[in-house]
Amino acid sequence: MAESIEPEFRKIKQGPPRGDPIVEEAAAAAPAGQAAEPAESGRSGLWKWLDDRTGIDALMHEALDEPISGGARYAYIFGSGLLFVFLSQIVTGTFLALYYVPSADHAHTTVAYITKEVAAGSFLRSLHVYGASAMVIIALLHICQTFLYGSFKGRRELVWLSGCVLFALVLGMAFTGYLLPWDQKAYFATAVGTNVPSELPVFGNAVKELMRGGTELGTLTISRFFVAHVFFIPGFMLLFIGTHLMLMRKARPAGPVSEDPFNPKLPTEPFYPRQVIKDLTLALLMIVILSGLAFFYPASLGPEANPADTQFLPRPEWYYRSLFQWLKYWHGGAVVIGIGVIPAVIAILFVLVPFLDRKSERRPWRRPLSVGIFAFVLIGIVVLEVQSYRDDAHDPVIAQQLALQEKQAEDFMKEPFKPETVGSAPEAAEAGSKSAAAAAAPAPNPLVAQGEQIFTSHACLACHGQGGAGTPLAPRLAGIGQKYPPEKLLDLFNHPTAKMDAGHMPHFQFTMDDVKAIEAYLDAPH
Ligand code: HEC
Repeated sequence: MAESIEPEFRKIKQGPPRGDPIVEEAAAAAPAGQAAEPAESGRSGLWKWLDDRTGIDALMHEALDEPISGGARYAYIFGSGLLFVFLSQIVTGTFLALYYVPSADHAHTTVAYITKEVAAGSFLRSLHVYGASAMVIIALLHICQTFLYGSFKGRRELVWLSGCVLFALVLGMAFTGYLLPWDQKAYFATAVGTNVPSELPVFGNAVKELMRGGTELGTLTISRFFVAHVFFIPGFMLLFIGTHLMLMRKARPAGPVSEDPFNPKLPTEPFYPRQVIKDLTLALLMIVILSGLAFFYPASLGPEANPADTQFLPRPEWYYRSLFQWLKYWHGGAVVIGIGVIPAVIAILFVLVPFLDRKSERRPWRRPLSVGIFAFVLIGIVVLEVQSYRDDAHDPVIAQQLALQEKQAEDFMKEPFKPETVGSAPEAAEAGSKSAAAAAAPAPNPLVAQGEQIFTSHACLACHGQGGAGTPLAPRLAGIGQKYPPEKLLDLFNHPTAKMDAGHMPHFQFTMDDVKAIEAYLDAPH
């Protein structure tokens, strides 16, 4: 069946070979008007015009007529599925980058702005977040398919190696992207993630500081992760996607497991149309799933990272959960084996697969050793993954804290967007509603300005609202001087009430002067 399609197809697609002197002469001799006439094959003159200049016909032939041993199959759709989601990540990522500012001061506010204010911003961000998970899932399916089919056999070592590089790059994208929103979970998960290498001797600490841009997580970390996520890794991905495809084209698709990897014998079918349609089915499915998730379950954003929070329990995204669980089992001197030797051995075995599993036998049931090891590692990863979630669910203290963190993120999502206010920004913002004359009047009391400075720089307004007007999170403070004289207020800061702690008001170490300034500001008319 496949054989009968091909010759027919070629006749239609190929048309006259490019560079045919007769065709070119004819085209050159014809007056401009005539060149626009439809070509013999039903092509419009515009197409021919373009083909004469670009060789697009040959390119299309190259792209679409790839012969597939044994015909089109759904098993082969994952590679192009990955390419599709990657392109979607580039498009959605570019939109996010229009608003995002990679610095510890602004990252969270800009992501909150995207999520809460920008038209369809939450939808686009969610597509990007779910797209990242989709990349990992489809990459795993692609790896399982090509491994089980033995598609790396028959002079295809470099195809496999370039694929390994691409998989590492996908994981790198997931890791670097996770920090960028700079919310609590991003901050603490990345703190753990970047700390892992420091457990290793000799170069461990250097790797950690290289990733963080110092000993702590901060603006330098964000800019490093941002550059890696937006320029460095995607650049390499484009390069390696090109390499992977070129090598795959050169080696030709391996076909079904019964096909001889060195000397293919099965009849072939061109890539277009049936394989293209199968590939597009996956792309369509991804569009439906990703946009459905993004629409009905928008990706959440938690409160801004607070490095002083000692309660927060870090948890990575699901694709790093098994690794996270694995780390729990290794302590003391064994750490080197657990997080150094064993993962390194698995990674090396994985990369060397085409050099270790060398026979031309492709059927998985005839390759018990390599398929057995592969299955063992895969099942181990799944077991660790499940165990991680079970551990969390079975420890009531942890479960409660995780539920609280979830709740805090939900509450943050419901809050209206709060723009950043720096220095005299509240006055500037109010100037819009007040008369220009009033706005231009200088602050009568320097204490008021000092108090305002404290109030904004300590994020009091995040909970107590602008000018201490009060929010659902914390009570009104304007006019607090009537309630507490400065000594009592200072005492309150030093001995916060249970309600203040319950509302997560940080513990501040203020001086009497600070407190007087705060009161002056809060008592001044706004
Ligand atoms: C994380 C949120 C949060 C932040 C940030 C915060 N507070 Fe509070 N604050 C609270 C909560 C919650 C309460 C207690 C509410 C209650 O008693 O019902 C409170 C109570 C207070 C009270 C006592 C109010 C009263 O009527 O008894 C004062 C005064 C106060 N905060 C001042 C400040 C100042 C000044 C800052 C900044 C330096 C600040 N807070 C930052 C959440 C916050």
